[in-house]
Amino acid sequence: MADRVFSGIQPTSGIHLGNYLGAIRNWVTMQESYDCIYCIVDLHALTVVHDAREMLSNTREVAAALLASGIDPKRSVLFVQSNVAAHTQLAWIFNCITPMGWLNKMTQFKEKAGKDREGAVTGLFDYPVLMAADILAYRATHVPVGDDQKQHLELARNIAGMFNRKFAVDYFTLPEPMILGEATRVMSLRDGTKKMSKSDPSEQSRLNLVDDADTIAQKIRRAKSDSLPGVTYDPASRPEASNLLTIYAALSNRPRAEVEVELESSPFSDFKSRLADLAVAKLSPIAAEMRRISADPGYIDQILREGAERADAIAAPILREVEGLVGFLRP
Ligand code: TYM
Repeated sequence: MADRVFSGIQPTSGIHLGNYLGAIRNWVTMQESYDCIYCIVDLHALTVVHDAREMLSNTREVAAALLASGIDPKRSVLFVQSNVAAHTQLAWIFNCITPMGWLNKMTQFKEKAGKDREGAVTGLFDYPVLMAADILAYRATHVPVGDDQKQHLELARNIAGMFNRKFAVDYFTLPEPMILGEATRVMSLRDGTKKMSKSDPSEQSRLNLVDDADTIAQKIRRAKSDSLPGVTYDPASRPEASNLLTIYAALSNRPRAEVEVELESSPFSDFKSRLADLAVAKLSPIAAEMRRISADPGYIDQILREGAERADAIAAPILREVEGLVGFLRP
């Protein structure tokens, strides 16, 4: 079967540098050599976003961010998850073959549910099953993601294998995670031991793709640092320095080891101004393009409408085959 890339991103507000370096930038490059399908996963976001207006505006904002970053809607399929019925239909079939024990092991559920597991919504628990359905509805072979999605991808592979075994078929190939680049896990600017995340209450903890030049520079100036000499990579004892160094390497498209040699005797303040200049140079054109695209929601909607039609044309026949394999009557 031909190689096919699938990946997704949630429409929760505040697309940040972690999303960009860990995922989106790789999605853009992969368009050169693969058929790519990129999905704005509103069904997943519904586990946390319960405000209709917010959902709508986040969805368009994420679409604008992807387009501004270089996703080309002519080459790749860009669409919204809830627009293609196969995702939820396949998720139900997978629900019926996935042991609860597998989901109980998911660390993201444990983190997100926190202490109140009884109060957590069912969708949050079932989240990784829908994710497997997203990927396998297209029989995708490669899935570019950040490091935090590794466990979910492993589960998707297990579900694909379970389906093949249960129904004694060789229908799904196990999708390969692609965790690429220097910055597969970008950490918070305020605490180098915590992942940069949309859900961090501190705006200072992340660089958002919509931030203007002054905000980017100010957040980097205020980023937590340490008082050791030079800037070196040592995540255990210098988490913040290591994170900023990794970001610098990723943004400058250079191997971390090379950048390390250059910075080992650089004063932290000099390094921060270099990093701020680099981040502004790389990110502020994306923010400007996002603003331009966002001014025309009709254009965004048109792209997403066409994307949904193309996605459905791929997923619907696959779903029909799966329904045949499990024995659903189609009179
Ligand atoms: P989401 O929306 O949280 O994040 C989108 C992508 O960004 C990556 N990412 C990061 N990478 C590096 N450092 C960080 N601090 C960082 N934070 C986020 C994520 O790894 C992800 O690749 N469950 C997924 C969405 C999803 C999906 C899918 C992905 C739904 N269905 C099918 C792949 C295939 C999620 O919540 O991503």
